[in-house]
Amino acid sequence: MQTSNLFGKTYFIRTFGCQMNMHDSERVSGLLDSCGCLEVAQPEDADIVIFMTCCVREAADTRLYGQCSSCKSLPPAPSGKRVIAVGGCIAQRDGAGLLTNLDNVDVIFGTHSITHVAELIDRAFAEGSSQVLCEESDPCAATSMPWHRAESYRAWVPIMTGCNNFCSYCIVPYVRGREKSRQFEEIVDEVTGLVRMGVREITLLGQNVNSYGRDLFGEPRFAELLRAVGDTGVERIFFTSSHPKDLLPQTIDAMAEVPAVMPQLHLAVQSGSSRILKLMNRRYTREQYLDLIDRVRDRIPDIALSTDIIVGFPGETEEDFEQTLSLAEQVGYAQAFTFIYSKRAGTPAAEIDDPTPRDVILERFNRLVKVIEDSAYAFNQHDLNAVVPALVEGTSKKDPSILLGKSPKNQTVHAPIPQGVSIEDLVGKIVDVKVDRARTWYLSGTVIGSSR
Ligand code: SAM
Ligand code: SF4
Ligand code: F3S
Repeated sequence: MQTSNLFGKTYFIRTFGCQMNMHDSERVSGLLDSCGCLEVAQPEDADIVIFMTCCVREAADTRLYGQCSSCKSLPPAPSGKRVIAVGGCIAQRDGAGLLTNLDNVDVIFGTHSITHVAELIDRAFAEGSSQVLCEESDPCAATSMPWHRAESYRAWVPIMTGCNNFCSYCIVPYVRGREKSRQFEEIVDEVTGLVRMGVREITLLGQNVNSYGRDLFGEPRFAELLRAVGDTGVERIFFTSSHPKDLLPQTIDAMAEVPAVMPQLHLAVQSGSSRILKLMNRRYTREQYLDLIDRVRDRIPDIALSTDIIVGFPGETEEDFEQTLSLAEQVGYAQAFTFIYSKRAGTPAAEIDDPTPRDVILERFNRLVKVIEDSAYAFNQHDLNAVVPALVEGTSKKDPSILLGKSPKNQTVHAPIPQGVSIEDLVGKIVDVKVDRARTWYLSGTVIGSSR
């Protein structure tokens, strides 16, 4: 691999989209670091500017054009030449086609080509011509690349890539390919290594983690993976995302029985109307989803449930939407990511006509947000006066004297930094916080226990 032109170069990386992209960025950074590059915080200080792109909704898609154009007005690069690279899902979707509209882009690399990013950038420096690589190759190969982790105490661990579900609105299966699971032992070994390095919290990543192993073993083995990862000694395990149709009883048992698996579950519902769920190709009904929630709560009564919901799927009626509202009220989510439907060319839903006016969709969206805010507020009230162990991540953006941590239910926790302690000493530690205020999006209180 030729990378001699990279030694001593500075790079800036901006990431859009989901945790998969965030993790891919950690691998790209790791690779560039291993070639002697240095990460910088501003694009103007960088010889290499990288955008890791997302196209799940139109808003994410269009942002790339503004970002790339703004690079034209940057001062000259420290080394005299600046290389602009575009990776991630837009790069995978559009390939060389991106060069038509983005004339200052030097490198385009797809989601399956990140192992080659250093060579491509090196060649762009040497030859000055555009380099494009968006081939199908082993999508799990990136997991053997060097890894630049922003935090020493927690890590994302991809367990599979791609998605086989083809929900009718979603572009992801087209840009990330089919499901491919990493080897079971490789994942467990990786977590074991991370624990030895001091990692306390891991998040297992995949578009549908419940079907982990189907391609390797003929049946999903996510429950076994949870148990094996629990045996590594890692203190906190989260995972995302779970598709409701694949959440097996043995997985719910593992969640209830493995102490390190945190009482939190992200289970995207998308709609509360069985009619819309069918059009979305989600392969479960409202009743089946609610039944699943009951089964999860039977085993883990205080679980924090979060979800994704789309408002304005083509043809969604007021009656369909009210079914979504009532489902959200019934479940009582601790958190929800709410989206307005965005037409994605090439997906089946893009072919469905929608007569619903935009202002009606916006008004429904706001009604849903209100229901979610109320349920998040109600959920947090359960922890008022409780003592919550918070893994400290840093300080509040608004007030540097307030520490910010995460509870086992993934709630944000705020508390004044105790006298005589510096935040640097607390980051990555778990502190006990006595909660005296429970708001919609955070708990706050006082540190009462020493850190560990
Ligand atoms: N695989 C995950 C799952 O099914 O839970 C979801 C991954 S996707 C990156 C995150 C969320 O984006 C989806 O759950 C869905 O709510 C939303 N989404 C996907 N396509 C969308 C579209 N065309 N318009 C609006 N929201 C969309
Ligand atoms: Fe998209 Fe559906 Fe796959 Fe999630 S499960 S990534 S929403 S196709
Ligand atoms: Fe976006 Fe690609 Fe993730 S489209 S949401 S970055 S898989």
